[in-house]
Amino acid sequence: MLELQNISFHADDKDILKDINLKIDDKFVAITGPNGSGKSTLLKVIMGIITPTSGKIIFDGQDITDLPVNERANLGMSFAFQQPVRFKGLKVIDLLKIAAGPEGTSAQIRSYLKAVGLCPMDYLNREINDTLSGGEMKRIEIAMAAARGGKLSLFDEPEAGIDLWSFQSLIEVFENLRNVTNGNILIISHQERILEIADKIIYLKDGTVDRYDESAKIMDELNMRRKGGCDCAFGQKGVSCNG
Ligand SMILES: Nc1ncnc2c1ncn2[C@@H]1O[C@H](COP(=O)(O)OP(=O)(O)OP(=O)(O)O)[C@@H](O)[C@H]1O
Ligand SMILES: [Mg+2]
Repeated sequence: MLELQNISFHADDKDILKDINLKIDDKFVAITGPNGSGKSTLLKVIMGIITPTSGKIIFDGQDITDLPVNERANLGMSFAFQQPVRFKGLKVIDLLKIAAGPEGTSAQIRSYLKAVGLCPMDYLNREINDTLSGGEMKRIEIAMAAARGGKLSLFDEPEAGIDLWSFQSLIEVFENLRNVTNGNILIISHQERILEIADKIIYLKDGTVDRYDESAKIMDELNMRRKGGCDCAFGQKGVSCNG
């Protein structure tokens, strides 16, 4: 449903994305790779926050390369920003109602909050302000993505800023999100546990797609590298890989 054809992004005299070709069709796809490999840039290109220097983006058969963010959103794409919008007096329930649209029932709205591990009774009437912790904010943002129920929800490192103790429940949040949403999820993550629940993993390296395959395969290769003894796709051959 999402296809990237020869996508490149050049800025500041650097090739940040180099001729990326991808077909993304599975329900839950994770993007991983070293810092600076171009993951966030790729997600921004997909959402239309930045324009690629060259290449095409096809979404559900339609060329969306020149569409602005709001029109991509109308087509069912959403991007989870780390900080949801804050307006004085705006409550969690208001944000979720806006996200769910006129068809969203109150039972559904409660189920999205439950899916992210927040008790509706305690949170529906909380105001969106600094009294919410960073982790609570992030969960609300994820619940909003579920409520929007778009065809494609994009997340950039949702685990960032989540404490180790809450981390297990974040994984459950994504497992639940996968169950409650009809759409596809594309998520940037460095976390093994999140990568493991993906159908496929895209491994970006130096602005190119180094590997794109089933999660289990890529995880095996990553684990091999960690053990330090191989000629795998991820080892820095000649530097840290003993071959
Ligand atoms: N507009 C820009 N101008 C110049 N350099 C940029 C621009 N956008 C991104 N970069 C550079 O491109 C590289 C890729 O950035 P990007 O944020 O996509 O990396 P990333 O894979 O998301 O890394 P991380 O894991 O650290 O989040 C980095 O070196 C970054 O500094
Ligand atoms: Mg990034």
